[in-house]
Amino acid sequence: MKSKKPIIISLAPFQGLTDKYFRTLFLESFGGVDRVYAPFVSGSGTERISKSKLSDLLMNERAISGTIPQIISNDSDEIVLFGKTLSDYGYRHINWNLGCPFRRIANKNKGCGLLPYPGKLEKILDNIFDKQPSFELSIKTRLGYHQKDEIFEAIKLFNQYPLSELIIHPRIGKQLYKGVVNLEGFNQCKLLSDHSIVYNGDIYNKAAFEKLLVMFSDIEHWMMGRGLLINPFLAEQIKGQKVSKDQRRERLHKFIKRLMDITSNRISNESKAAGYMKAVCYYMAGSFKDPEKVFSKIKKTRTTEEFDNAFNEIINLPLSNDVEAGNYFVHGLKHI
Ligand SMILES: Cc1cc2nc3c(=O)[nH]c(=O)nc-3n(C[C@H](O)[C@H](O)[C@H](O)COP(=O)(O)O)c2cc1C
Repeated sequence: MKSKKPIIISLAPFQGLTDKYFRTLFLESFGGVDRVYAPFVSGSGTERISKSKLSDLLMNERAISGTIPQIISNDSDEIVLFGKTLSDYGYRHINWNLGCPFRRIANKNKGCGLLPYPGKLEKILDNIFDKQPSFELSIKTRLGYHQKDEIFEAIKLFNQYPLSELIIHPRIGKQLYKGVVNLEGFNQCKLLSDHSIVYNGDIYNKAAFEKLLVMFSDIEHWMMGRGLLINPFLAEQIKGQKVSKDQRRERLHKFIKRLMDITSNRISNESKAAGYMKAVCYYMAGSFKDPEKVFSKIKKTRTTEEFDNAFNEIINLPLSNDVEAGNYFVHGLKHI
């Protein structure tokens, strides 16, 4: 009998949150995550790339292992230069963002704002692959900007190019991250595509993942975002590792303490540093039984010292179980 390949789990990118310091510490602190996608770089240019555009992607002038860089662009020269420059630093694979739903981006025909224009997409892809790029290109997208059928034309087009994978978040741009995921739409994409498909969206606990695995048993790679930010042990749990509540508490505490140290070293403005930690804890509050109480304690903090004191109290509060973490994802988070 053919043995099934082990599943791949990746951490989704979050602009402003999952920067290289977060990503590195996350991979060191929690198991089960095979790769991390970096938040998109925009406006990197067609002639030369300034170092500041690459700063989130390099550590000591080298590629960061386990990381996939991402670009948002509607210019083939920009995408090729980005990929070429990063391959010189040791990256083999870049991801093109065709999913960002925010109006200021989508209305410039970037992110999912390119999906209604298959002609433009074709030109960009032709130009990229005509140059025989030295890097692998994958795409992260959604079902459409205005309506779900937009993706079907795009997928037929994608089938003509050697993409390394196609990550699909089954919502349309107009939904942002709200409402339900369209699993039938995802299934249609899967049937239509010749590429290796990655599922992304609303994997909020182990039970939610297992339901999806039954529906889409041929999917090997699963990208998880908010579910992992809420419960960083989710990937370990899915891969069958047992973590006791005491271990979770100890490892979460250590992670937050180290992240706070790193953050206060790199952001000298105290309130900005505390602001970043608050954004992290907005999600992680769902690791606790009473996330509203946890976040209200964190929200009041204005300095790193106040944040530290608040978290030292919080870490002793009861932790959530899988169902409670899932409830926070579905009902507690304000989905933008
Ligand atoms: C605040 C925020 C920032 C995001 N930034 C990016 C980004 O830079 N690139 C990207 O491809 N997706 C980005 N996303 C989308 C997530 O990577 C992911 O696709 C989305 O949260 C759905 O997955 P989930 O349901 O597992 O969270 C962002 C989402 C949010 C809420």
